Amino acid sequence: MEVQQKTMEGPSIKKVEQFLHMNGGEGETSYAKNSKSQGKVLSMTKPIIEEAILAFYNTTIFPESIGIADLGCSAGPNTLVAVTEIMNAIDIQCRQLDRSSPEFQVYLNDLPGNDFNTVFKSLTPFHEKLHQEKGESFGPCFFAGVPGSFYGRLFPIKSLHFVHSSYSIHWLSQVPPELREDANVVLNKGKIYISKTSPVGVSVAYLTQFQRDFSVFLKSRSKEMVAGGHMVLTLRGRRVGDPSTDESCILWDFIAQALNDLVFEGLIEEKKVDSFNVPYYDPSPEEMKLEIQKEGSFTLSRLEIGVMDPKELLGSGNSIDKHVLDMLLAKGIRSVSEPILKSQFGEGVMGHLYERLGEHIGSTTKGITNVTLVLSLTRNA
Ligand SMILES: C[S@@+](CC[C@H](N)C(=O)[O-])C[C@H]1O[C@@H](n2cnc3c(N)ncnc32)[C@H](O)[C@@H]1O
Repeated sequence: MEVQQKTMEGPSIKKVEQFLHMNGGEGETSYAKNSKSQGKVLSMTKPIIEEAILAFYNTTIFPESIGIADLGCSAGPNTLVAVTEIMNAIDIQCRQLDRSSPEFQVYLNDLPGNDFNTVFKSLTPFHEKLHQEKGESFGPCFFAGVPGSFYGRLFPIKSLHFVHSSYSIHWLSQVPPELREDANVVLNKGKIYISKTSPVGVSVAYLTQFQRDFSVFLKSRSKEMVAGGHMVLTLRGRRVGDPSTDESCILWDFIAQALNDLVFEGLIEEKKVDSFNVPYYDPSPEEMKLEIQKEGSFTLSRLEIGVMDPKELLGSGNSIDKHVLDMLLAKGIRSVSEPILKSQFGEGVMGHLYERLGEHIGSTTKGITNVTLVLSLTRNA
């Protein structure tokens, strides 16, 4: 892989907070309309959440007030799913043990660019439904939006009993410094994430950034959670040690190919692609276990690996035309990646870029898999 000297363009380095969020609103390319596959993943974690609640009540005196945080809640149909599952599981435990319902303090966290307005608007119908289904004696439930990065402190000390995060912590706090626009050399020419042709320095830079971030994440939560508190984390990951296998990289490779098509067509500058990398990393189970062990505040009680075909996840594969499914997958990827790509390449080329992406997805003979890691952790006493 060629290593080029970079041209310096001044200190226009954007912070991840400024461009990392899902597509807001409820339009065609919004996350709200295109998060079906993440919703299916969420429903798979239900038994793990129930198991964590059971373990909590087996070892803890019933708290009068329970603090729950969903980290990276985004905005859409999935936002309140995990919180509902946690509340349901607590409700079942309380009924079985003939205890009165605790009060709930629910924190919905995401980066400041998240569409919190949509989230807040959904709270009134949510409260009404809760009231109808569970009656007067449940709760009360207090909701708060918490804008900020989960790579740092967000909540008061020992205020949380349950922490949940789905499909969020594979986003890093920043592009690894060696791969940023202001680095001295272009390490990852023509690519935007680790790929089979990237020099080893690229995967080392990504792993180092992941290690820094995940250890800060664990340290922050260790302060915020009570002893015996539980945390369920779901994220994109990989099964193998090698970070450049297709199961990790194929979709970023397709986006890079689509960007290079646009360079060829004269729509974007080559140097813009060469100097761009995504703030994302999908770790292996071993990489996660190692950080948990090093940080030392949590015991890993369960680690599950799910392997899915994202087109199947998008649903009802059988009767849907292949081209429609390819475009649906491209639309799902758009709802997640467009704000990041738009900030680098401009809004004007986005439609064309994702059409190209759909074509690359459609013409591949390789299988596309989606590997999900689910971890259940307990805060040590
Ligand atoms: C794919 S969405 C997942 C949303 C939802 N949890 C679900 O399962 O559908 C990922 C979310 O994580 C948020 N996120 C990424 N990095 C974050 C950080 N450092 N702090 C807080 N939220 C973050 C993004 O803004 C985005 O809304």
